[in-house]
Amino acid sequence: IRQAVIVAAGLDARAYRLDWPADTAVFEIDQSKVLEFKQVVLTEHHAQPTCDRRPVTVDLREDWPAALRSAGFDPEKPAAWSAEGLLRYLPGTAQDLLFARIDELSAPGSQLGLEVFMASGDFNSIADYEKQMTGQSPFGGVDPAELCYDDERADPASWLADKGWVVHPFSLEALTLTYGRTIPEIPDELGGMMKQPRHLIATR
Ligand SMILES: C[S@@+](CC[C@H](N)C(=O)[O-])C[C@H]1O[C@@H](n2cnc3c(N)ncnc32)[C@H](O)[C@@H]1O
Repeated sequence: IRQAVIVAAGLDARAYRLDWPADTAVFEIDQSKVLEFKQVVLTEHHAQPTCDRRPVTVDLREDWPAALRSAGFDPEKPAAWSAEGLLRYLPGTAQDLLFARIDELSAPGSQLGLEVFMASGDFNSIADYEKQMTGQSPFGGVDPAELCYDDERADPASWLADKGWVVHPFSLEALTLTYGRTIPEIPDELGGMMKQPRHLIATR
């Protein structure tokens, strides 16, 4: 695979810090203000991409597949996709559309990494913990649960399996141990998030 797409890349800096195979194009999709801010900070620090980095500034509510193709993405070739920290910012119908578009753009051999988080439940656990530790209002005073959708929606693993993807769910705890890393002591509420299968890798 020589093309990767980080959907809702945010401040993800993998395009700068991973040891990519030669000639790999990494497409970062996000809103212009986010990608511009990241670019300014990384330029200030003289960071150099370790791949052919291609920012794709587009709102995911618009025709992002067209923007991706214009940036050089080739749907005839397999791709590595990542969508982390995203699904709960989209209502269920937009999540379905996101998966449908990724499915359509994914040649055989493509892979998809997904983070599946719960909106208010997970944010409340994190917020309680941060407040306890720092005594301050977390997330800069913004209530992140208000940015998210708590609606009923398709289970991503089932959605993808129905389309023929081979899905491997895993927990952060299992992944951490696979890498030989130790898990720090954390309170039960956060520990629960580590133990549940909140991530998956799917192969087409
Ligand atoms: C919590 S951040 C996750 C960033 C990164 N994937 C990570 O895991 O660190 C969510 C990102 O989704 C982006 N996002 C949310 N809604 C979007 C939309 N409609 N179009 C494009 N990007 C969107 C935000 O701009 C933000 O950068």
